[in-house]
Amino acid sequence: MASLTLNNVKKRFGHIEVLKGIDIAIDDGDFLVLVGPSGCGKSTLLNMIAGLDSISDGQVSIGDVVINDLHPADRDIAWCFSHTRCIPT
Ligand SMILES: Nc1ncnc2c1ncn2[C@@H]1O[C@H](COP(=O)(O)OP(=O)(O)OP(=O)(O)O)[C@@H](O)[C@H]1O
Ligand SMILES: [Mg+2]
Repeated sequence: MASLTLNNVKKRFGHIEVLKGIDIAIDDGDFLVLVGPSGCGKSTLLNMIAGLDSISDGQVSIGDVVINDLHPADRDIAWCFSHTRCIPT
């Protein structure tokens, strides 16, 4: 585990800014739930943290390391998509 810090994170799709400067500090061991109406940018923000979407502006850090330009495989992050089907073994 490590801390996750977002500083003034923005996302633009073309000329439309959908995330307008997100600041979040999550300490090691913290538990965070993102809640908001459909289309407010929850998935976009998580994709940016995971590296599946580019960051238009601002910084995402894990511990002391800025990960904006790190490949997803190098971020040591795991995620589970909401429509994942669990198959009993
Ligand atoms: N690839 C894309 N190109 C253009 N606009 C996009 C793209 N992905 C998302 N958007 C827009 O960005 C905004 C945020 O979308 P996002 O999917 O992150 O919302 P959400 O909070 O996850 O919604 P939901 O609760 O329905 O999953 C929406 O207006 C959406 O239309
Ligand atoms: Mg979503």
